[in-house]
Amino acid sequence: MVQAMSWWKCSLLIVTAAILMVVVGGQFNEPPGKRREQTFKVLEFENSNINQRYPGTLRYYCTFRGKWSAERHPNDFPRRPSWGPPIIVSHSNGYRMWTGTEAVTAGVESIAEDGFFTIYTNEFLNAGFETLHMVHGERMFNTTESQHLPPINVTFEHPFLSSMVKIQPSPDWFVGFSDFRTISYETETYYNRILIQSYVWDSGTDGGQTYTALDRDLDPQIPCYRFCARGSGKSNHQCPDLTKGRIETPPLGQFLDYTGTYIPTPGEFECVLRVGEGDVFAGTPFNETQIRPPLSVPRPDDDFVDGVSPHDPEFEQKTGQSNPRASTGVRLTILAAVQAITVLGFVVAACGIL
Ligand SMILES: *[C@@H]1O[C@H](CO)[C@@H](O)[C@H](O)[C@H]1NC(C)=O
Ligand SMILES: *[C@@H]1O[C@H](CO)[C@@H](O)[C@H](O)[C@H]1NC(C)=O
Ligand SMILES: *[C@@H]1O[C@H](CO)[C@@H](O)[C@H](O)[C@H]1NC(C)=O
Repeated sequence: MVQAMSWWKCSLLIVTAAILMVVVGGQFNEPPGKRREQTFKVLEFENSNINQRYPGTLRYYCTFRGKWSAERHPNDFPRRPSWGPPIIVSHSNGYRMWTGTEAVTAGVESIAEDGFFTIYTNEFLNAGFETLHMVHGERMFNTTESQHLPPINVTFEHPFLSSMVKIQPSPDWFVGFSDFRTISYETETYYNRILIQSYVWDSGTDGGQTYTALDRDLDPQIPCYRFCARGSGKSNHQCPDLTKGRIETPPLGQFLDYTGTYIPTPGEFECVLRVGEGDVFAGTPFNETQIRPPLSVPRPDDDFVDGVSPHDPEFEQKTGQSNPRASTGVRLTILAAVQAITVLGFVVAACGIL
């Protein structure tokens, strides 16, 4: 009986360890047992001590940073590029603006193809209680510039943020994320700050294969897909993989860098939480500049140095610098190894194997 008990505890521990490893393996803030393909890559986050039931006003001040350029994405890059007005909505768990694997609504199609909000606004309003707030920024003609977006409210019932920014010109391509939950399942508090790197999405409503292709509506439309670089990634990130909503870039290789091996981040979102109506610094009246994230932040493992891609095999010869991406890779490997050893030690100790 004692033997059986300890084996039971021991296997429970192994399951806990496995869940820990899965979280380490890339899913961000998903409830237990509910894995799905996420539409965002969270590069940095900070927890706050604001409980999920906080009754006062909570808003995120988000900044959109464009990173779509001829230097980073040289293939077929259009002559007159721009970003459509960025749009962010907050909503409940009972609402989806778009997902990375299903056909999009007519409103989302209209944003992705034309950058217009009219049809989408009706969908947003028709969702009633499920949607809370919708804000949008300005069209941006310098595609590597950044802009501050109007603050967006969240509540305990509406903690999810979804976003779209149309790539112009393009058949139906956009950047953004969907269903990001601003309350951590782990701490049950709001995130104080989040930094999301975006993928590139094809809304699946237009068959055009170049930025300036003539309108060619797909009938029936296909699911929304995320562009990926062929042959990239490890076994769990194969490209293409239609079951996971990943489709190869069009034949001209739009969005790939000049090495053709990866898609540099086309844009990122950084959001900071403001709590209530009070001061940020005691005794000083609130001023947005006190909490706005900076417009431009260098990303050593993603930004080009003197026009050289961090995925260029000759990075070090060409720039005379060590590749920040390589050292990030090493750091992550060490981190993963330390974590694995810790978990193993924990299991060994608890099961009394030694
Ligand atoms: C967002 O919060 C502000 C500040 O409390 C409030 O004035 C505004 O009405 C809210 N908007 C929505 C759509 O909830
Ligand atoms: C676009 O914006 C970036 C970042 O603010 C700036 O460095 C660059 O000079 C701008 N390009 C043009 C053509 O204005
Ligand atoms: C906010 O602070 C910035 C920088 O300190 C200042 O330039 C700006 O005028 C202030 N805005 C308001 C409305 O006080």
